[in-house]
Amino acid sequence: MAARIADAPILPRDEAFAITLDFQSDPTPEKVSLGAGVYRDENSEPWILPSIKMAKSVVERSLDLNNHEYLPIAGFDPFLKVARELVLGNYNTSNSHVLSIQTISGTGANHLGALFLAQQLRPRNVFISDPTWGNHFLIWQTAAPHVIQEKYPYYDAQTRALNFEGMTSMLENAATEGDVVILHACAHNPTGIDPTRDQWRSLAQVFKRKKLFPFFDSAYQGFATGDPEEDAWAVRHFHEVLFEDGPGNTPQGMCIAQSFAKNMGLYGERVGAFHLVLPQDTPSTGPYSQLLRLVRAEISNPPLYGCRLVYTVLSNPTIRAVWYEDLRKMAGRIKGVRSMLKQEIEKHENVGDWTHLTSQIGMFSFTGLSKDQVQRLRDKHHIYLMSNGRVSLSGANEGNVKCIADAIAEVVQEHGT
Ligand SMILES: Cc1ncc(COP(=O)(O)O)c(C=O)c1O
Repeated sequence: MAARIADAPILPRDEAFAITLDFQSDPTPEKVSLGAGVYRDENSEPWILPSIKMAKSVVERSLDLNNHEYLPIAGFDPFLKVARELVLGNYNTSNSHVLSIQTISGTGANHLGALFLAQQLRPRNVFISDPTWGNHFLIWQTAAPHVIQEKYPYYDAQTRALNFEGMTSMLENAATEGDVVILHACAHNPTGIDPTRDQWRSLAQVFKRKKLFPFFDSAYQGFATGDPEEDAWAVRHFHEVLFEDGPGNTPQGMCIAQSFAKNMGLYGERVGAFHLVLPQDTPSTGPYSQLLRLVRAEISNPPLYGCRLVYTVLSNPTIRAVWYEDLRKMAGRIKGVRSMLKQEIEKHENVGDWTHLTSQIGMFSFTGLSKDQVQRLRDKHHIYLMSNGRVSLSGANEGNVKCIADAIAEVVQEHGT
């Protein structure tokens, strides 16, 4: 007998979206949103990137805007080519080849990758950093329910730094050949802490030796340092190391989920790509046909408008140069906010050391504030952030940073660090 739809259990609201709704319905004029992972300018307003404005006018003039035809299942090929090059650089094509599929932003790429790997690689485990972007768990739960989710240590709350020892020893001891490991390509969400280059180098060797399958989630390329080349370093290094020995001696591959939501401010346009890198001697026709089948069943083919904008930004040298400026501006403003907030908090007594604010990178900071302190910030000061203490720094600016700092200092003094 069929189940009763009315019996569907009630699930809790998604925290990230719930915070935004709660913030919007708070009538207090001084309220501050440090919840949503979206960039805001110095007036707390959404910022349309100048490069995107230019791309829009080019698209309107030169591409056929009256073309509303379907794209192929895999997406807009010129977009896929520039997107692939953005993340992998001028990659060496002699040892590997890359299959690229356009997706519904980074979430769609994560989802397609999980579905595909669950069916074609069939790993025993997927290793996910502790903590991580909450959707990783949900995506793997729904797309790959038979794959066991394991958390690998990432953040050390005592030192407020990367627990590199814990991370590597877990991968060394608990992961087995063919297991998938999700890695944040840069600007780790929520901690804002990335491995150093030496640590990435040593991780790549572990992956290679143990034949683990790296799944890079690249949602912030260009946002961490302001330089998309720099932010792609880890992905490119893994690509080089994993495939350098040629056929026979390599893991089965690696993959990348790429988002253009943050680095182009195209949140609602849902532009992304999934790239599957395979050793040169692995036939691609089978894997590619399986990817197409999954896309066909899920979305049939991807949307057209956003990918034309991204293609225009990346393929037009003048607009691309403006985009590099835009990235520097966004990353630079966030960096400035980090320093101001640290300085303002530390003007107070008995608040401890806030150096972690300036040593972390990207849009987020993992403040170390407790759930109770977060609740107090919301109830008393109308400042909204995630219950794990993550703040999205783009909500702060010269106008409100002192109020935020004073409120944080107050809750820290009340509850202790
Ligand atoms: C780590 C990480 N991966 C992926 C995404 C996907 O974002 P989108 O689906 O908007 O591209 C996000 C967004 O917050 C993220 O933080």
